[in-house]
Amino acid sequence: MTMPMLTVENLMASYGVVRALHGVSLEVNEGELVALLGVNGAGKSTTLKSITGILRPVKGSITFLGTEITNRKPEWIVKQGLSLVPEGREIFGSLTVEENLRLGAFASYQRDRYKADLKEIFELFPILEERFSQPGGLLSGGEQQMLAIARAMMAHPKLLMLDEPSLGLSPAMTDGIFVLIKRLREMGSTILLVEQNAERALEIVDRAYLLANGEVDFAGTAEDLKRKVDIASVYFGGDDAAPCEVPL
Ligand SMILES: Nc1ncnc2c1ncn2[C@@H]1O[C@H](COP(=O)(O)OP(=O)(O)O)[C@@H](O)[C@H]1O
Ligand SMILES: [Mg+2]
Repeated sequence: MTMPMLTVENLMASYGVVRALHGVSLEVNEGELVALLGVNGAGKSTTLKSITGILRPVKGSITFLGTEITNRKPEWIVKQGLSLVPEGREIFGSLTVEENLRLGAFASYQRDRYKADLKEIFELFPILEERFSQPGGLLSGGEQQMLAIARAMMAHPKLLMLDEPSLGLSPAMTDGIFVLIKRLREMGSTILLVEQNAERALEIVDRAYLLANGEVDFAGTAEDLKRKVDIASVYFGGDDAAPCEVPL
């Protein structure tokens, strides 16, 4: 058995006195595309923030590539090869597309690879080549999301974590982002994708975890999850349907 790339065990996290995670465990294997699903407030972003060291967990352990990274500083964790594209993208609006991309490259200490990396990025995101000299703030929401993903990729992450990349995007742009994520996975990237849009995510992921109230409610393959979603709609739609537990 090979070790998972990322192992999160019994993670508990709080904001002051408010406990947001009550013991979350999950794994991501190399080459997998895994979704972390759940409604608003379920604890998805808190899980990602804890993994990346932005939020210090109260309890639990996080292991990445065989090294425990719990309680390490975010800069140190990034250098191990773990990158987060945060919710809301957070690109630098007054800096050009080029400057935004270069910041991603600097974080990885691979300035010499910059040109080769750009070439790859432009193949994946042609729009960024067209907009190379424009301020990031002038890009559309979907283009900014692509810039945020491209910037994270400049650091050559071993694991890319995306927090709600489709949030606030038009349906067409959402389609574009999902096609891109699928393509990244086919190219060998390992991805942990946070989404509220379970149906869309389940079309492209290998496995998924369903978070509810800071706990993993269900975990399984995309097929397992799709069945669970179907059963839920039958259950909530009918009068005499019985609650049903789906085996993992
Ligand atoms: N900065 C914060 N301060 C206090 N509570 C927070 C903060 N961020 C999130 N929470 C709370 O933690 C819980 C989980 O939030 P979050 O992880 O952002 O959920 P999700 O990303 O699944 O929508 C929610 O109850 C939310 O209100
Ligand atoms: Mg969130």
